[in-house]
Amino acid sequence: MDTHKIKMIRERLAASSAPVALTGAGVSAESGVPTFRGPGGLWKTYKPEDLATPEAFERDPYLVWEWYNFRREKIASVSPNPAHYALAGLEASKPAFTLITQNVDGLHCLAGSRNVLEIHGSIWALRCTACGNSSENRDVPIEILPRCTCGGLLRPGVVWFGETLPEDTMNAAFEAAEKADFMMVAGTSGVVQPAASLVSVAKRAGAFTVEINTDATPLSDIMDERLEGRAGEILPLIITA
Ligand code: OAD
Repeated sequence: MDTHKIKMIRERLAASSAPVALTGAGVSAESGVPTFRGPGGLWKTYKPEDLATPEAFERDPYLVWEWYNFRREKIASVSPNPAHYALAGLEASKPAFTLITQNVDGLHCLAGSRNVLEIHGSIWALRCTACGNSSENRDVPIEILPRCTCGGLLRPGVVWFGETLPEDTMNAAFEAAEKADFMMVAGTSGVVQPAASLVSVAKRAGAFTVEINTDATPLSDIMDERLEGRAGEILPLIITA
């Protein structure tokens, strides 16, 4: 690990007045939550069009719920890792910090982060397909097929392929990116929009950008700095050391 680079990035973060972090599945990988696209990634075994689209749910809600039960069970059995705790610590020391995550696992909140913009929703949220009401449910497994008090079928409160992202959450994320003077992008392949575009927004706004990833990504070239390695090892070095 390049200690000089780490020190420089740590100082930039310490001096930042509007830091932002964008996280993806790689941040939860060390907790044991599978990523989507890497080795062992969910989209290597499962087809998103069968499980993570509104059409798939209309066609076979039972199958989709079974898959979400499988993921809920996995997530319920794991704990946050040092990457989540480091980011929670940053919120405590810098109230202006904004944490934007594509993860639906809720591990940032479990680690103590309070203000998390979950732009792809939460696996613990349910939304009624009839009345639109949202609620939280942590049953593992959840009884299939879950019903709303209005009688409507409940669906997972996550964003599926082809769907728009929650408007208020996304507006808050873009606003934070526009104001950012420091952005760290950890554990995301950077191929899913509009999440990935938050990085160019922050760059245009003049933010210093750092990528933390075990591999290069399509975002790597536009970053000011890259730290190649595990988020659970690198984030605590930047944030708390
Ligand atoms: P991906 O699975 O696409 O990418 C995970 C990234 O994390 C890869 O770039 C890996 O190299 C990196 N990685 C793996 N382990 C790591 C570690 N320990 N430390 C640091 N980096 C590590 O996951 P996302 O980019 O989050 O969407 O995927 C984006 C969206 O695509 C997800 O939110 C999901 C999926 O379809 C929805 O569910 C709407």
